[in-house]
Amino acid sequence: MQKRVSAAGPLRGSLSLPGDKSISHRYALIASIAEGATRIRNYSTGADCHSTLCCVRALRIPVEGSGTEFVIHGRGLDGLRAPEADLDAGNSGSTIRMLSGILAAQPFTSRIFGDESLSHRPMQRIIQPLEQMGAHIRAREGRFPPLEIQGGPLHAIEYALPVASAQVKTCVLLAGLYAEGETAVTGPVDSRDHTEVALREFGAEIEVASHRVAIQGRPRLEALDLEVPSDLSSAAFFVAAALLVPGSHLAIQGVGINPTRAALLDFLRGMGARLRIPELESRHGELVGTIEVEASELAGGTIAGPLTAALIDEIPVLAVLGAASQNGLTVHDASELRIKETDRIRTVVENLRRAGVAAEELPDGMAIPGRQKFRAAQFDSFGDHRIAMAFAVAAQAADGESTIEGAEAASISFPEFWDTLERVAAAH
Ligand code: S3P
Repeated sequence: MQKRVSAAGPLRGSLSLPGDKSISHRYALIASIAEGATRIRNYSTGADCHSTLCCVRALRIPVEGSGTEFVIHGRGLDGLRAPEADLDAGNSGSTIRMLSGILAAQPFTSRIFGDESLSHRPMQRIIQPLEQMGAHIRAREGRFPPLEIQGGPLHAIEYALPVASAQVKTCVLLAGLYAEGETAVTGPVDSRDHTEVALREFGAEIEVASHRVAIQGRPRLEALDLEVPSDLSSAAFFVAAALLVPGSHLAIQGVGINPTRAALLDFLRGMGARLRIPELESRHGELVGTIEVEASELAGGTIAGPLTAALIDEIPVLAVLGAASQNGLTVHDASELRIKETDRIRTVVENLRRAGVAAEELPDGMAIPGRQKFRAAQFDSFGDHRIAMAFAVAAQAADGESTIEGAEAASISFPEFWDTLERVAAAH
């Protein structure tokens, strides 16, 4: 699907966005192995989180509801049943990597596969720790989906993550729920901690010290009544568009501002963004607040080291902001970006150039000079949701009408994106 996007006037108004993708996956997975009926409101409408729900159903856990509200009837740690068919993770790296931690402990064999993009994403990073715990996993070429996971009894390990991945950390922690004793994960940096927060809420015993998370095996997880905050990574596109288009002023309500995700807001404030979060409240251990943002002149900056991991999903849209900033944006230590839904270093630079913006690909990042203008262009999502939305933001600042090829990719995390954008752009 091709979308036409015109340069907008100011973006104005108040909006609520769909539920956080990372939190929705975790609530659904943990609810499926908790005891009793967990109600989840504001569940992500994205296709990825629906892949997780479909897998949970296929493991014969009853899931009621539709839209954004579901009730998952867990039967405890040992309540899953062998699926009748292969499990379909769709485009979702989170689904396949996190669910594998649970599948590795089941007394049955399961196969899990994904779409073309997911079929080329590395799984060695979860196969290695799960095999250390005692699981047997076969993968295409030893490292790609589909995975055939022969589950069985697991033993606890102390695992040093070779990459700063919250998905891998979660996979090991979920597997650790089934092992006797303490399973611990140490990381090069502290990645998003939604799993730790959620597991604690469900009743697991979790200890967190700097760069180390430890979980006690065989807890009793109890069903909860949950509401997912809105997704900060989806809000990022509206924050960016409002910063970019003169005269904009948006209020984005009920957004999850977990400190392990909120580096985006600090980084933008450091560049001069006029951003306010008047109040924060805690909901099931997650901080939630309204983001108020106004058009601002941005200084530009550098993203490197642990900051890269903390901003990993937001780098495409930050690259767009970087081109318009005073001093540009340089990104380092981001080779993980090359193995996301697309090679996001390549797809970002390619789209920037289509708009007449100078940008250089670096082996581990990109360099984008500042004070550049966007020409109207034919952008391409290359099937990647965050690329589609990042360049819809660029189109807001372009000198005419742009098109986004493969615009439907946005529905992986944010099906309402195009309608929401039209609404706030028409509100002035
Ligand atoms: C996620 C972790 C990140 C992120 C992804 C969601 C999560 O991936 O890019 O969109 O929910 O844990 P990695 O764990 O591969 O860094």
